Amino acid sequence: MTYLVNGLYIIAFGMFIYGLMGLTGPKTAVRGNLIAAVGMFIAVVATLISVRHTSNWILIIAGLVVGIALGVPPAKFTKMTAMPQLVAAFNGVGGGTVALIAWSEFINSQGFSHFDEEPTVHIVVGSLFAAIIGSISFWGSLIAFGKLQEILPGRPIGLGKLQQPLNLLLLIGAVAAAVVIGIGATNDGVSQLWMIAVLVLAGVLGLAVVLPIGGADMPVVISLLNALTGLSAAAAGLALNNTAMIVAGMIVGASGTILTNLMAKAMNRSIPAIVAGGFGGGGTAPGAGGDGEAKQAKATSAADAAIQMAYANQVIVVPGYGMAVAQAQHAVKEMAALLEAKGVEVKYAIHPVAGRMPGHMNVLLAEAEVSYDALKEMDDINGEFSRTDVALVIGANDVTNPAAREDASSPIYGMPVLNVDQAKSVIVLKRSMNSGFAGIDNPLFYADHTSMLFGDAKKSVGAVTEELKAL
Ligand code: TAP
Repeated sequence: MTYLVNGLYIIAFGMFIYGLMGLTGPKTAVRGNLIAAVGMFIAVVATLISVRHTSNWILIIAGLVVGIALGVPPAKFTKMTAMPQLVAAFNGVGGGTVALIAWSEFINSQGFSHFDEEPTVHIVVGSLFAAIIGSISFWGSLIAFGKLQEILPGRPIGLGKLQQPLNLLLLIGAVAAAVVIGIGATNDGVSQLWMIAVLVLAGVLGLAVVLPIGGADMPVVISLLNALTGLSAAAAGLALNNTAMIVAGMIVGASGTILTNLMAKAMNRSIPAIVAGGFGGGGTAPGAGGDGEAKQAKATSAADAAIQMAYANQVIVVPGYGMAVAQAQHAVKEMAALLEAKGVEVKYAIHPVAGRMPGHMNVLLAEAEVSYDALKEMDDINGEFSRTDVALVIGANDVTNPAAREDASSPIYGMPVLNVDQAKSVIVLKRSMNSGFAGIDNPLFYADHTSMLFGDAKKSVGAVTEELKAL
């Protein structure tokens, strides 16, 4: 039986990794997800086989039924725009589970003292690490969910300068309580209280770390919490001697860490700066360029925009957060089809952090059935702007800001951006001169070859489409 269980685990791990590889491109992502899900099913079956002599079958089946009943409906019916909060909720459940596993192992082992032999260091350290990180992740994810679902205010909620010392104190408290248990300095009756202290202090730390972070930074925070949940699951796997938990936890921990780093890098921000909060918020920008001189942006009409694009050889559509807000993706697809019918080549430039979650633009455009081949990543399309007649910016702002390339004093200096300003002409669709996520002005809007089509992106695209039909 051991061989069968191990064999099934190895097949499951292979499927996790193969599935993950599929997630690197939109064409293979759905299949990759399915392969990894089948892998997880096999790992669950293997685990059930390995515990087949248990007397807890009713509890196990009840757990599976409740898990399926609570997990499947939201996964199937949640709208694409609400995905970040769904991920936060699922991630929180994972972290909470790990913390509960660590706690129940602790109760079962009566403070680790029931073992015939002294429990090994990896069991004690693994359980306590899992308890701390799992609890941080559960409570932190709950706040992230609340902010994204707008149950809690999205603005930072904190104690200002006292926040960091308080967080440090909570961390020291949780680790100190864990050390007291770990070195066996308490008797069985009292050690339960120390374990509860570990879970409570870590939980309050999770709340205290995430509450002061603004709602717009939540996708990065969720990715970070996701990585932490993975690490805590791996630690719990060490304590339980469960290979599946170790491998799956390490895959989640490693991929979550890489994703967090990539997101932070694409925003040109450090992870500690994000965790410290206080960036963005989308204030209004003055109508002035970077040099302080008052500049005027030029407004255009749907009719002029339609004529300009209809006579272009190539149009690059640059979608951003505003396209998601306006839900303009279907209208964009319809407009592009009309342009293509007139012989215009239409491509889409996708910035890695356009919108508010990884792959946000890809998901929206895939929903509107825009061909994957027309979606171009930043590095592949940046060289093409200078040969392009019209760049059509739809609700994007920061990801097109040339100050990131040219102005060393800009807060986003160094962030890789789309070279929209190099196109022969630029049309920007947004409602006002308001800034984007970073809260800074965008000199692109005042450039001589840029014109602004003010209004809600969906309505503006619709108006351009009507004009194109009339041409
Ligand atoms: P932003 O810079 O946030 O700009 C979006 C623009 O859309 C705003 O200037 C807004 O201007 C416009 N807009 C909003 N609603 C609109 C509507 N209904 N119709 C038309 N326009 C509308 O967006 P971006 O260029 O996509 O950049 C993303 C930003 O988010 C970056 O700074 C990035 O670092 C940050 N961020 C990204 C992520 C991920 S993972 N993608 C995570 C966290 C933060 P008006 O108000 O004038 O219309």
